Amino acid sequence: MEPLVLPPELCRRLRDAERVVAFTGAGVSQESGLATFRGRDDALWQRFRPEELATPQAFERHPRRVWQWYASRFGTASAVEPNPAHHALVRFADLFPSFLLVTQNVDGLHQRAGSRGVVELHGTLRHARCHACDRRMEMRDAVERSPEEPPACACGGLFRPAVVWFGEPLPLAALERATTAAAGADLLLAVGTSATVFPAAGLIELAHRGGAAVIEVNPQPTAFSGLADLRVTAPAGVGLPALEAEVRRCRRAPS
Ligand code: OAD
Repeated sequence: MEPLVLPPELCRRLRDAERVVAFTGAGVSQESGLATFRGRDDALWQRFRPEELATPQAFERHPRRVWQWYASRFGTASAVEPNPAHHALVRFADLFPSFLLVTQNVDGLHQRAGSRGVVELHGTLRHARCHACDRRMEMRDAVERSPEEPPACACGGLFRPAVVWFGEPLPLAALERATTAAAGADLLLAVGTSATVFPAAGLIELAHRGGAAVIEVNPQPTAFSGLADLRVTAPAGVGLPALEAEVRRCRRAPS
C-alpha cells in the first residue's frame, strides 16, 4: 500500500478524539482465511443461497442442512487464528479514552485476539440457543454431541446457532449500545464491511451525521465511501497497523 500520511485537519481531529467506535465486518477475518459474504467468487453468498441457510424458515424446513452448514463454519472459524487486523483493533482500544468495538462478525476472532466488551450485532457462532425457549449452550458442546443434526432441547425445541438470521431482529441491547455510541462518536472506523446489511450499516451514517470523522479501511469502495473523511485502500491486516502508527503520531503532536 502507499505510505499513509493523514491530512493535518484529520490528524488534529484524531488527536482530540475521545469517543471512538470501530465497526467491523467479514473483511476483517478474510486474512485469517475466512470467506466474506460478498464481492468475490469464493464469497459465501456466491456459493450458497442465504434464503436456504440463514432464515428461520430455512431452519424450520431443513434443520439438518442448516445445522450442518453452521457446524462446518464453526469448525472452520475455530481452526483459524486472529490476524494483524484483529490485533491492531485490540491496541486501538488503548489509544482513546472511550473505544467500542461493534462487529457484524459471528466468528469470535476479535474476542480471541483480546478485544473486550465487543458488541456482536449479528449474534455469535460460539453459542447455540434453543429456537423455542432460548436456552443456550456452547456451540462446541452442541456440535460434539450432535454434529449432523440440531440437538434437542429439554423443552422439546431444537438448538440452532445463536446468530441473527435474515428477517430476525438484532439483539436490542447490542443495537442500542452501538447506536448510542455511534451517534456520540468523534471517530468511526468502518473496517472490512460492504455496509449493505441494515440496520447495522446505518451506524456509519449515524456517526457521520453526529459529527464523527469517518475512516474506511477496505480494499474496495462501498456505498458509504463517499462520506468517509479518509479511505485506507488496503487489506485490514496492513491498513489498520499503518493507521495505528498515524494515530499515535497525531496524538503525540502538540496542541
Ligand atoms: P461482506 O462480505 O458483505 O463484505 C466484506 C467487505 O470486506 C467487502 O467490502 C470487501 O471489499 C471487504 N474486504 C475483503 N477483504 C478484506 C480485507 N482483507 N481487509 C479489509 N476489507 C476486506 O461482509 P459484511 O459487510 O460483514 O449477516 O456483511 C454484512 C452481513 O451480511 C454479515 O454480518 C452477514 C451477511 O449476510 C448475516 O448473516 C445476518
